[in-house]
Amino acid sequence: MSRKILCIGAGYVGGPTMAMIAARCPDYQVTVVDINAARIKAWQSDRLPIYEPGLLELVRAARGRNLFFSTDVAAQIAANDIIFVSVNTPTKTYGQGAGKAADLQYWEKTAREILAHAKTDKIVVEKSTLPVRTAYAMARILNTGEKDVHFEVLSNPEFLAEGTAVKDLERPDRVLIGGRDNDRGRQAVQALVDIYAHWVPRERILTTNVWSSELSKLAANALLAQRVSSVNSLSALCEATEADIAEVTRAVGMDSRIGSRFLQASVGFGGSCFQKDILNLVYLCEHYGLPEVAAYWEQVIKINEYQQDRFVRNMIARMFNTLSGKRIAVFGFAFKAHTGDTRESPAIRVCRRLAEERAEVVVTDPQALGNAAHDLEGLPGIVLEPDPYRAAAGAHALAILTEWPEYRTLDFARIHAGMAKPPFLFDGRNLLDHQALYDLGFNVFSIGRAPRSHV
Ligand code: NAD
Ligand code: UGA
Repeated sequence: MSRKILCIGAGYVGGPTMAMIAARCPDYQVTVVDINAARIKAWQSDRLPIYEPGLLELVRAARGRNLFFSTDVAAQIAANDIIFVSVNTPTKTYGQGAGKAADLQYWEKTAREILAHAKTDKIVVEKSTLPVRTAYAMARILNTGEKDVHFEVLSNPEFLAEGTAVKDLERPDRVLIGGRDNDRGRQAVQALVDIYAHWVPRERILTTNVWSSELSKLAANALLAQRVSSVNSLSALCEATEADIAEVTRAVGMDSRIGSRFLQASVGFGGSCFQKDILNLVYLCEHYGLPEVAAYWEQVIKINEYQQDRFVRNMIARMFNTLSGKRIAVFGFAFKAHTGDTRESPAIRVCRRLAEERAEVVVTDPQALGNAAHDLEGLPGIVLEPDPYRAAAGAHALAILTEWPEYRTLDFARIHAGMAKPPFLFDGRNLLDHQALYDLGFNVFSIGRAPRSHV
């Protein structure tokens, strides 16, 4: 079987995934292509286009040896036999299904590009997250019968989380491969199993039919996001009743049927995929005539929006019903710690609301200020400040929106001394030691816990 792999799409998934395959499979040659020349140039340098702990070391281990980055999509399609497609599949913003369905234009362009330049048989691997039965459309576009070339389409969704991508790729809970149950399908699945088996224990490599594989990806994200929305909905009840969400999640998480992970109350979930994939699921359910199922999953998104809005409403209420002219220091803009990614970050919605209230919003973040500048472009009263102490100087309130561990060890006595009084702290991640901050003189408001307030 061929040992030449191509990945189309050099983003958060394509780059790290292919770097891991190249590093663990020195007997394969791996090339990653993208239409975005600046991105490819960055992958060829030591200033990678994305921040991910451990990624630079991984890329360096294989780059130039059996890992290559290129913009020559056409030539690379012709030269490789296993083609991963890892292009973006955002929520559609126009036409039918706008606001819910997946926008498949990048995916379809890629399929047509593969068809145009392939001269030999190919295994085409869906790495992007796609609606169920997309592989059927992919196979229909590719296998037109006009060319004497066969394309076998597999589904191999990616489950890595940002911030832990390298660790997740190195020791995945499972690798999922969906293929057709016939000779060609089984052969293609085996070719992919052979790649992952270089470092993933065989019992963790699952093979299923294509549709189960496609749906499992949407289902996994929906269930994960549902956990966060469930906990966040309970956090509102905790605040009303003086129950403490940390105590509640500890108690319920010790039930081994529930499990303790992914129960952290927050200002809301963000990231490029949870919302998009649930909306996609909702759209699919509506399409297949299942409105009750659609409404069930849509509620996960509604609670997430409610949680973000509730956070801002609480800030306004606690700060004497006006934020106008007040300086608010926003600590953390990334959608989670250890990434510079800000796609669908709750910080975007919160900052917009604060700007609408005519607050002066000073945003600090160790990795995400570049993206923040883009996300907040044109909003009045926004300042970006890399240094958290300078961001907090003169502020009426701090709002913690990303759980960067370095915020835990800041000198809060120094920060307190430089703030306008009375100083407010809204911890949207329950990251800090609230009692210690209260003792320093802060008025502390968190998620799902009783306020610790002097006012
Ligand atoms: P991304 O936007 O970071 O990267 C996609 C890349 O594809 C871009 O660089 C874009 O220029 C390129 N591209 C688009 N059309 C192209 C074409 N015709 N030819 C060549 N390149 C093209 O997206 P991402 O975050 O890597 O996500 C990719 C897919 O993986 C999505 O479907 C997403 O849902 C899924 N996914 C993402 C994550 C994550 O953590 N980001 C995790 C699992 C799955
Ligand atoms: C998520 C999934 O975890 C991955 O398995 C999946 O591959 C990926 O989506 C994808 O398809 O893109 P990611 O969005 O990178 O990964 O990060 P998560 O760790 O899942 O966090 C998502 C959001 O939920 C973040 O904003 C995070 O802060 C929030 N979250 C997470 C909570 O508020 N509480 C929690 O307990 C866990």
